[in-house]
Amino acid sequence: MLNEKVHKLLNEQINKEFYSAYLYLDFSNYFKARGLDGFANWYMIQAMEERDHAMLFYTYLQNENMPVSLEAIAKPDKKLDSDMAVLEAGLEHEKYVTSLINDIYGAAYDVRDFRTMQFLDWFVKEQGEEETNANDLISKMELFGSDAKGLYMLNQELGARIYTAPSLVL
Ligand code: FEO
Repeated sequence: MLNEKVHKLLNEQINKEFYSAYLYLDFSNYFKARGLDGFANWYMIQAMEERDHAMLFYTYLQNENMPVSLEAIAKPDKKLDSDMAVLEAGLEHEKYVTSLINDIYGAAYDVRDFRTMQFLDWFVKEQGEEETNANDLISKMELFGSDAKGLYMLNQELGARIYTAPSLVL
């Protein structure tokens, strides 16, 4: 039996992660329309990872015999008016998600819910990686993005990203 607040936050996180998937699909769609298929691929895989994150929260609640309540997913709301704006919106969003994970962790800590804390440990590490990836993309874009050849090479690099299932299995 999970604490009421911990349960509520975990359930809300399912929605936040699906929203993240939706947001990155929007980013992928932006780059597809720009003709930058490599960037589109990178964000498509990002969207798949976010769906996986949502399913991990979903499965965790089910495994704990706690009710799951699926809410409406909001429309992606970031203003995508330049390549760099998209990349920066990604970093801003990951920082926000990190704060959400920290809030759930804090709520679990307050009630000595060690199992939920252990479950969340994977997400704490994952958020570190997600922020690093988003930062790296911005740095590469700053370095190479203003030159057509550089942008082409970066697009090729991002096109090589392949999907891997999450290392956390419930
Ligand atoms: Fe599910 Fe990008 O955090």
